[in-house]
Amino acid sequence: MSITSICCIGAGYVGGPTMAVIAHKCPHIKVTVVDLNEERIARWNDPNVENIPVYEPGLSEIVAQARGKNLFFSTQVDEAIDEAQMIFISVNTPTKTYGAGKGMAADLKYIELCARQIARVATTDKIVVEKSTLPVRTAEAIKNILDNTGNGVQFQILSNPEFLAEGTAVEDLLAPDRVLIGGGTDEAGQIAIKKLVEVYANWVPSHQILTTNLWSSELSKLTANAFLAQRVSSINAISELCEKTGANVNEVAKAIGMDSRIGPKFLKASVGFGGSCFQKDILNLVYIAKSFGLQEVADYWEQVIIMNDHQKNRFARKIVSTLYNTVSGKKITFLGWAFKKDTNDTRESAAIYVADDLLNEQAQIAVYDPKVSARQIQSDLNYLETRLPEENDKAIESCNDPYEACKNAHAIAILTEWDEFKSYDWQRIYDAMLKPAFVFDGRNLLDADKMKEIGFLYQGIGS
Ligand code: UDX
Ligand code: ADP
Repeated sequence: MSITSICCIGAGYVGGPTMAVIAHKCPHIKVTVVDLNEERIARWNDPNVENIPVYEPGLSEIVAQARGKNLFFSTQVDEAIDEAQMIFISVNTPTKTYGAGKGMAADLKYIELCARQIARVATTDKIVVEKSTLPVRTAEAIKNILDNTGNGVQFQILSNPEFLAEGTAVEDLLAPDRVLIGGGTDEAGQIAIKKLVEVYANWVPSHQILTTNLWSSELSKLTANAFLAQRVSSINAISELCEKTGANVNEVAKAIGMDSRIGPKFLKASVGFGGSCFQKDILNLVYIAKSFGLQEVADYWEQVIIMNDHQKNRFARKIVSTLYNTVSGKKITFLGWAFKKDTNDTRESAAIYVADDLLNEQAQIAVYDPKVSARQIQSDLNYLETRLPEENDKAIESCNDPYEACKNAHAIAILTEWDEFKSYDWQRIYDAMLKPAFVFDGRNLLDADKMKEIGFLYQGIGS
C-alpha cells in the first residue's frame, strides 16, 4: 500500500519547504505540517502568502498552489500524528547549553518529546522519518522510546537527512543531487524504505535515490556538512595568508578550483560561515569522536570551527585597527545581517559576532538587511547575553533604507552577499558618509577598483 498521508512535526526552515515540495509533487498525498508555535503556523496560513515565515525564492508560489488542497499547516499535533501513515520529525536540535556535552553535543530533548508524543498518540502502525540532523545512532534511541512506551503498534524508523541549502531550498528540493534514505536491514525496514523511495520517485530519478543502513545515513549528513564547512575554513585560512603575502584569494580560489579534483564550488573567502548547521554538526561530530576516545579525529574537525571563529574575530579587529584603533561612538553601517543571501535566517550569522565585538568597542551600529527584521536583530544580540537588552537597543539601529543606513557613517561593513548591494549608487553613498569613508567587504562582493575610484578606502577579504 502506498503512502497517502504524511505529517511533519516542525514547520521550520527545513520542515516547511520540504513538505511544500512533497505536497506540490505528490498531489495524491495529504501533507500536514504541525508545530507547537502558534504564531509560526498562523503565518504559514496567512491569506497573503508573501507573509509565510520562511523566505525562500519560489516557495510562496508553491505554498499558494498546494495549501488548502493537499498541504495543511496546523497546531493540532496529536490529530495529525494519528492520521498519518508516515511522520517526519523536523524539529530543532540545537547544541546543548547545559550539562554533559554542553556547547558540543546536540540537544535531543525536542526529538525525544516528539518520539514520546508519537508513542502516546499512535493507534496504527507508523513509519517515523528523521529529517532533523542528528547524532549517529539517534534512530536507535527513538526506536527504544517508541517500542517501550507505545500502544503496541509497529514503528519503523528511517533516516532521511535533508541536504537543502537555504536561499536555494526550493531549487535543491526540486532537483536534489541525491536523496538519502537509511533504514533497517530486516524485511520490515526494507519495506519502509521502499515506501519512502516511492514518495520521492514522483520527481527524483531512481538512480539519485540512495538507500543505506541507518547509521551510514545519519553519519553521511554530518560528514557532508563537515566537508563543506572545512572548504570554507580552508579558503579563509588562505585568505589571511594572502593579505600578508600580496596574493589575492579570489585568484588563488580560481586557480585551484579549475583542478577538477578540487572543483570550483564553496571556495569563496568570507567573513566566516554561519547558518544553523555547519557549526552545530561539526561540534556534534567532535563530540561523537571524543566520546569514542578518538581525540585526533575530534581535534582535526574542531580546527574548522576554531578557524571560523578566528575569521569573524579578525574581521572585527581589522575594522577597529583601520579606524585608528578606536570605533567608540563611531557609526558603522552593516549591509546584511542574514547568514547568507536570499534567506531571512540569521542563525549563527557572522554579523552577530562581528557586531558583538564592535559593540564591546562602543561602536554605534546601523543595520540594513532586505529580509531581516529589527526584532530579529535585537533578539540575536540579546541571546548572546553580552549586554543588557536596553544597552543593545541604544547601540544598534535597524534601517529600512540602505542610503539612510549609510548616511554619516564612518565605515560600511558588508556581512551578507545580497545581490542588490552591487547595484547601489555608491557615489551617492560616498557623498553622504564621513571622510575618510571606509568599506570593509566581508564577502568580496563589490568591484574594488571602482570603489577606490570613487574615493572609498576599500578592503576586501584576502587581498
Ligand atoms: C548547509 C549545506 O550546504 C546544506 O547541504 C545542508 O543541508 C545545511 O547546511 P546552508 O547552511 O543553508 O546549507 O548554506 P550554505 O550555502 O552551505 O552556506 C553556509 C555558510 O557558508 C554561509 O554563511 C555562507 O555564506 C558560507 N559560505 C559558503 C562561504 O563563506 N563561502 C562559500 O564558498 C560557501
Ligand atoms: P530547522 O531549520 O531544522 O527547520 P527550526 O528551528 O526552523 O529548525 O524549526 C523547528 C520547528 O520545530 C520550530 O518551529 C519548533 O517550534 C518546532 N518544534 C519543536 N519541538 C516540537 C514539538 N514537540 N512539536 C511540534 N513542533 C515542535
